[in-house]
Amino acid sequence: MKTFFHVSDIGDLSAALKEAEEIKKNRFAYKHLGENKTIMLVFFNSSLRTRLSSQKAAQNLGMNAIVLNIGQDSWKLETELGVVMDGDKGEHLREAIPVMGSYCDIIGVRSFAGLKDRDYDYAETVLQQFIDYSGRPIISLESATVHPCQAFADLITINEYKKKDRPKVVLSWAPHPKSLPQAVPNSFAEWMNAADVDFVITNPEGYDLDPKFVGDAKVEHDQMKALEGADFVYAKNWSCPGVNNPEDYGKILSKDMSWTIDAKHMAVTNNAYFMHCLPVRRNMIVSDEVIDSPQSIVIPEAANREISAQVVMKRMLEDLQK
Ligand code: CP
Repeated sequence: MKTFFHVSDIGDLSAALKEAEEIKKNRFAYKHLGENKTIMLVFFNSSLRTRLSSQKAAQNLGMNAIVLNIGQDSWKLETELGVVMDGDKGEHLREAIPVMGSYCDIIGVRSFAGLKDRDYDYAETVLQQFIDYSGRPIISLESATVHPCQAFADLITINEYKKKDRPKVVLSWAPHPKSLPQAVPNSFAEWMNAADVDFVITNPEGYDLDPKFVGDAKVEHDQMKALEGADFVYAKNWSCPGVNNPEDYGKILSKDMSWTIDAKHMAVTNNAYFMHCLPVRRNMIVSDEVIDSPQSIVIPEAANREISAQVVMKRMLEDLQK
């Protein structure tokens, strides 16, 4: 595995889920694979879960993990080519990336969407430079348009908690005070479309995700109708994806609090489990009552981030040995 961005990178999903199950039972079985190997975890943005779970997964595999916070531990990095570097950015990615590559065997990158230029974000401009200039396998730790480690952990969690072969899974937009990227819902949609689930997306008008991620999923703009009979409710905010109106890309079009997932919403489901990638804004995205209920599985979901990261790193290490 040279890159981990899309569900297609993991190959057969049943095999990946089986591997996750085995690793969860014995996290240290592959400690020999990472001996004398180093992963560099590069963060352009804040993180709690991704940083800790990636470090833990690397340690479980016997790897050394170096964490670099760009702009705090390092120089501020210029990402645009062809600019006169007379501002506050002291180094260009064009030099920084191959230098980072020379110190490690695998690179993980967190680089959020800027939400100003849709074409720039959807071309994964920063991540692509890591592919082009590092000479190393690259893992997206949430890049401009995808968060595959999260979506894989979400699928592992659904697989663990499902009570029927083909559960109904509903991805619901919910309000948030800040403009957030589409990476989490994009990846969740991509992975649910590939999994054996009945998948429905619900969001207000103007928030439809990019068709390449929506795929064959049903899109229902009536949230309560979408939630009927759901086995899993996955709440998330995202800003306008700008599919029909590119000038609205990254904007907040609604803060409609009637979309906040509360007991009234959960009452129409099939006693659904509540999921969210975290961090979550309580009583914006979800009511205290729901997130504190026994049906909330946000903590085991976050714990599975260690497992999803470990499957991906293990496969990359195995490929490095070939
Ligand atoms: N879910 C997630 O990626 O969390 P962090 O932003 O804290 O890493």
